[in-house]
Amino acid sequence: MKNAQGFYSKITGTGSAFPSKVLTNDDLAKKVETSDEWIRERTGIRERRISDVRLPHERNSGLGHQAAVRALEMAGRRADEIDTILYATCTPDTLLPSTASWLQSKLGAKNAWGLDVNAACSGFVSGLAVADQFIRSGQSKVALVVGADVLSAMTDWEDRASCILFGDGAGAVILERTEDEKGSRILSTQMGLDGDLWELFHIPAGGSNQEVTPEKYAARDNKMKMKGKEIFKYAVRGMADLATQALEKNGLKVSDIDWVIAHQANLRIIEAVAKRIDLPMEKMLVNIDVYGNTSAGTVPSVLDQSVRSGKIKRGQLVLLDVFGSGLTYGSALVRF
Ligand code: ACO
Repeated sequence: MKNAQGFYSKITGTGSAFPSKVLTNDDLAKKVETSDEWIRERTGIRERRISDVRLPHERNSGLGHQAAVRALEMAGRRADEIDTILYATCTPDTLLPSTASWLQSKLGAKNAWGLDVNAACSGFVSGLAVADQFIRSGQSKVALVVGADVLSAMTDWEDRASCILFGDGAGAVILERTEDEKGSRILSTQMGLDGDLWELFHIPAGGSNQEVTPEKYAARDNKMKMKGKEIFKYAVRGMADLATQALEKNGLKVSDIDWVIAHQANLRIIEAVAKRIDLPMEKMLVNIDVYGNTSAGTVPSVLDQSVRSGKIKRGQLVLLDVFGSGLTYGSALVRF
């Protein structure tokens, strides 16, 4: 549907960044009772990257900065042309100020306003949806959307059921105004939230409800608590439903989709979504094997790697499909 202004948003640049330290399944098997075989079979993950946050460029905003610089280069834009920064993360550098503030300073994006978006693993698509609306309304011309997380800081490294899944990483896109309805643009975004399911994936302490006392620290209540089996079920159903809704909204069929980038939580979840919507697995783009679940960083990093490798081409139809703590859900249908 055409909006009043006739403005749409188009992805003009992508970027991604990861820390240098590799943590393999065998490395993990030295810390907790697990094995490379179990992790590969149940999750599809071989290794992940872990930030050394003593190094400024490996902190959350450091990874976001590297990804943003690459996205700007691809778009042929300068940092001072950005008017809006949406930084999707649930592992901010600091609670105050926002990670968008740290990034703005690092980039020298002096003409931008910005804020953090916390929708956990759905954060990047949520940020993209907000930026799309700002561009469509005429308020923004050049927006930077970053998805980045340093989940290693919130991981309980003694919990073998969860610590095997997560890694650190970032991705970014430059989103710009276009008036070409038929060309490259975001076609639609769909978001969902079910707060009743908060307990499936949460961090009890460290917010304003509970400070991290020595007792809470000893109980590792400042780390992620996860009910993996239940999340698995909701994730498959939620992402499949959002994919179907996105297609219906645009009068398209599954066979029209060129690529799907689903949240990289578990390869088995991605396979189950493909089966449920009846899409061949070859169309599901992944990087979970080498980066694990980087939360808000998964979708924009897979997007960037697939654009740079030449898999995703201009004009192709790409579905971004995510879920995360909340539980949050989201999808964006993009004509790239
Ligand atoms: N190594 C070896 N054995 C393990 C491990 C491990 N790392 N972890 C669990 N096990 C054992 C369990 O103790 C259990 O043993 P039991 O049968 O003796 O009780 C057995 O393996 C099977 O455990 P399940 O929990 O049934 O294993 P499952 O196949 O469900 O896989 C997993 C667990 C990988 C966590 C899966 O449920 C999953 O990926 N869920 C989704 C998690 C998720 O998406 N989280 C993030 C959501 S939001 C966000 O992305 C930020």
